[in-house]
Parts: sequence; structure tokens; C-alpha cells
Amino acid sequence: MYGPTHLPKGEKQRKVTVPEIRNRKSQGPSIAMVTAYDFTMARLLDEAGVDIVLVGDSLGMIVQGLSNTLPVTVDEVCYHGRAVARGLARAHLVGDMPFMSFQASTAQAIENAGKLMKEGAFESVKIEGGMEVADRVEAMVSIGIPVMGHIGLVPQRVHAFGGFRVQGKTDEGADRIVADAIALEQAGVYAIVLEAMPAEVASRVTRAVNVPTIGIGAGRGCDGQVLVCTDLLGMSRGHSPRFVKHFAEVGDTIVNATQAFIDEVRAGTFPDKDHEYQAAPVAGAVRRTASE
Ligand code: KIV
Repeated sequence: MYGPTHLPKGEKQRKVTVPEIRNRKSQGPSIAMVTAYDFTMARLLDEAGVDIVLVGDSLGMIVQGLSNTLPVTVDEVCYHGRAVARGLARAHLVGDMPFMSFQASTAQAIENAGKLMKEGAFESVKIEGGMEVADRVEAMVSIGIPVMGHIGLVPQRVHAFGGFRVQGKTDEGADRIVADAIALEQAGVYAIVLEAMPAEVASRVTRAVNVPTIGIGAGRGCDGQVLVCTDLLGMSRGHSPRFVKHFAEVGDTIVNATQAFIDEVRAGTFPDKDHEYQAAPVAGAVRRTASE
């Protein structure tokens, strides 16, 4: 039902697997993970060679224009997951468990993780939280659902944190993040996202666990890095967090190309002859002159 549509004919699909991602901790190279929400972006990221594509609940902010991720639903993540899956020949596909899809109980977590894998085409799920979600992680892993953890600035707690704030700045906060990472590892996660924390804290976590850490705003000491695709490509407008690097200015390219289109439409120079269809010549028809 799902699967890549851009493989050269005869080429076999070889997906990045969960055990391979786990082994990157000791064997490298560093893991490159990027978010995507649609087929076109997924296909381009896959062609570029990313290891993991995440359908994050950031889709609420990036695709829907919301101010946080809280309203995103499991059905919405599934919808975007199916589209993204069709674009991936190689990259592993992980889907976010949205707010209130796992907090209520272990049974709820299992049901929704199962839905993400059955209806969203995901190969693993990502869950926000540390020791407080360890029992859910353990239950999911025990029935064969691979789980990625996510600690530090977990956006689903934006109101509890009082905003999108860097975590682990105090000794107590840093110790809590390390303890969360160890609890997640013991529960069976195959990797952990570390978001918005001092680089030294992320390095400490990376040394403390045997699963790869994937940083976003967590410095160079992680086993991999993740960025939101529109940040990486320079498509976001307005304020960017300090950790965001634009590797291109695709937003400007889109605006410039669209302005060029508008100009040509208004000048009547688009479409030109090369971009319009001609009627098939009728056999035996009298040739018309140019003036006709
Ligand atoms: O939702 C998301 O895009 C994420 C990444 C920022 C890690 O969780």
C-alpha cells in the first residue's frame, strides 16, 4: 500500500533499520534526522541521504500555523505519515505520539502507537517525557513497537514550562535529564532526542547511555542531530531559535520565483509558445497563413 515511488527501475529498497540506528552509537557515522510532512519533501530528503525522517507533531506549527503542538491528533500524524512514507526509499520513518495520545494510560499508549504503525505507515514512534513515561515505553517495546525517547524541552509541556525554555540549566535540572535518559534506556528506547539544553548536559547524557542521542539545540556532543525541514531550508519566517541554522534560503527562492511568475502573467509573456499545446495537424488541411 505504501512505499517509495522514486526508486530507479530494478533497484532494491534498503531501509535504515532500528538495529542499525542503535549501532550508530558505537560504529557511527553521526545520525542525520529531519522532519517532513508531505511526499514531495520526503522524497527530496531521502534522495539527499538522511537517515531518519520524523513526522513530528511540529506539523501543528509548521503545516497548520498553530502556536504550539498541543491540538495535533493521532489521525493527523497518520495522514502525514502515509504521504511521507510514499517518498522514502531508504530513510527510517518515525512518527510523533501527540499530546494526550499516551499520557492517560499504558493501554492508551499501546492503542495509539499501534494506530500510528498500522494507519500511519510508521516504523517506530517517538514519545515525549522521561521516567514518567518509562512504563509506557516498556510496554510498547515488549510487544514489538520500537520507541524513540524525547527529553529536555518537550514542547507538549510548553504551558507547564511557561514557554519554550531551555532545560537543564541548573545542577538539579541537569541531573533530572540524565536520570530521565537512563530510565528511557532501561525501558528499551532505541534512541533519544535531546532538545534545547546546555551542550555539556547533552554530552553528559550521551556518555551516560548506550543508545544514540539525537540533539536539537543540544550542542555537538550528541550522536546525531535533528532539524525541522523548514528551518534547515530557510523557509521559516520570523524569529528562529539560536540553534537553527539555515543551510539554504529556499523561502527567498520561493518568493522570488513566485514574483517572477506574477510579473510574466501580468506582462502576458507566460505561457509562451514552448509552454502551450498545439492542435495536431489535420491531414490534407489547407495550410493557414501566419496572418490567420
Ligand atoms: O515535532 C518535532 O518536530 C520534534 C522535533 C523538533 C524533534 O519533536
